[in-house]
Amino acid sequence: MSEEKEKPIKPLDEADIALFMRYSRGPYSKKIQDIENDINKLSTNIKAMSRVKESNTGLSKPSYWNLENDKMLMEIDEHPLQVARCTKIMNPRTDYAIYMISMIQMGQMGEFAVGLGEKVAATDIEVGMRVGVEYTKYFIQIPLPPKIDPIVTMMTLEEKSDVTYNDLGGCNEQIEKLREVFEMPILHPEKFINLRIDSPPKGVLLYGPPGTGKTLAARAVANMTNSCFIKVTGSELVQKYIGEGARMVREIFQMAKIKNDCIVFIDDVDAIGGARFDDGYGGDSEAQRTMSEIVNQLDGFDNRGNVKVLMATRRPDTLDPALLRPGRLDRKIEFGLPDLEGRTQIFKIHTKVMNIDKGIRFELLARLCPNSTGADLKSVCTEAGMFAIRQRRNSISEKDLLEAIEKVIKGLSKFSATSEYMVYN
Ligand SMILES: Nc1ncnc2c1ncn2[C@@H]1O[C@H](COP(=O)(O)OP(=O)(O)OP(=O)(O)O)[C@@H](O)[C@H]1O
Ligand SMILES: [Mg+2]
Repeated sequence: MSEEKEKPIKPLDEADIALFMRYSRGPYSKKIQDIENDINKLSTNIKAMSRVKESNTGLSKPSYWNLENDKMLMEIDEHPLQVARCTKIMNPRTDYAIYMISMIQMGQMGEFAVGLGEKVAATDIEVGMRVGVEYTKYFIQIPLPPKIDPIVTMMTLEEKSDVTYNDLGGCNEQIEKLREVFEMPILHPEKFINLRIDSPPKGVLLYGPPGTGKTLAARAVANMTNSCFIKVTGSELVQKYIGEGARMVREIFQMAKIKNDCIVFIDDVDAIGGARFDDGYGGDSEAQRTMSEIVNQLDGFDNRGNVKVLMATRRPDTLDPALLRPGRLDRKIEFGLPDLEGRTQIFKIHTKVMNIDKGIRFELLARLCPNSTGADLKSVCTEAGMFAIRQRRNSISEKDLLEAIEKVIKGLSKFSATSEYMVYN
């Protein structure tokens, strides 16, 4: 019973509470609390200023606007299109035309009969074309260009070199011929029309010993015309794309035909060119197929067409005669060993950018390098520079050049690159 008579509970009074508060806190807790509050307030302020992009107008800040992107998004408010192929057109060129398309639908090939979208004209669509169709009703929305392998697209020379015809020494005749083929039909087509020549030359073969400037000439052509320039090497076609050479050739030409003017340059065709020779051993069938495809493509496009072909080789004797017959590669331009005047010019070209003494007798130098190619002469100039560097001079003297000739031309005659060419041709 004693519990019942317990004293009534006395609530804590103000003083007690203050006492408890004091003892549960450290000496600085109030200050710390205040500072923490301050920090919190500041950081919310910072967040408000930086992260939250919406202001009270409902628009984000102008610095976050991407008008271009928005415009694009607004224009493409429709679904992405699907790729299909038009296989047949029924009632063509009438209002009731029906287009058969085939496309892959859920992993299966499906055939559909569809109509045209609003933005396409009936004349745009042909049988065999790739088309873009809309997702739900498969109406044809846009015609698409043929499918081209990205590797082929990569072969197009986008940025052109700075090589001009002036960088080619002793090749005036050759340059003249090249310009006739690659520039005249583009710049003055009326000349051909007036004379009723309906096939200006469309294929050119550059041949000559190694290092005489064939590749250089092609680079100059690429630079000097505004045409699209596709460059591929013969060995690339047979080696890099094993089993695909013929298809690559086909796609290269397919792409070339879409362009306005196009030059296809195949360097070192000897890698594939000889393949159609019957050597009694069956030959290299891969290269053979590639070669047949090239021949086929050369015949395939119409003469007035926009595709021109430039090929370079150092072994014209091994080339397939079929390739060389007129109509395919009808111009053959020889890049021979430069003569005295040519060599003088080449010396001048290669020393033009170098720091060199005045009054050097280039003709004398040229006389000392008989049977040398442009590449040899370039090497002479570089070597002369090396001599000057070794002796810590900052200009090349005639003596350097003479020593370099001694070293390069005489010393390397054992490794002459031209001898093989001379034997075969
Ligand atoms: N006629 C020339 N005028 C100026 N430089 C030349 C000339 N011929 C060759 N050269 C120099 O030699 C280098 C090699 O020439 P290029 O690559 O054109 O030889 P190529 O004929 O294609 O040989 P290959 O048959 O071995 O491919 C060029 O980069 C250039 O510096
Ligand atoms: Mg070359």
